[in-house]
Amino acid sequence: MTDVTDTLVHLCDTSDVSEDLPFRVERDGFAYAVFLADGQYYVTADLCSHGPGQLSDGFVEGCEVECPFHQGRFDLRTGAPTAPPCMEPIRVWTPTVADGRIYIADPA
Ligand code: FES
Repeated sequence: MTDVTDTLVHLCDTSDVSEDLPFRVERDGFAYAVFLADGQYYVTADLCSHGPGQLSDGFVEGCEVECPFHQGRFDLRTGAPTAPPCMEPIRVWTPTVADGRIYIADPA
């Protein structure tokens, strides 16, 4: 029998991520940021759409992350920019969480 997680990409374990510490993980040369916010896990591209900021180093408040470079902000649920200077959205994935592991489908 095929487990649903067999077709997904494993990014990290739930123990790797906390509300205060997002987690950066690379798969096939692409960097993802994994967040825990308000009890939910979120996965986004790690690279800010405005410049070189790594969102996994950002400040999380509610369901938003603030880029550490110029303090632009994004909604973790949609990837939409919510504060300047960010104007372009970032890509987001809806994670699957199973047995303490975090997966995505359709990797970058
Ligand atoms: S690099 Fe992220 S706000 Fe400028």
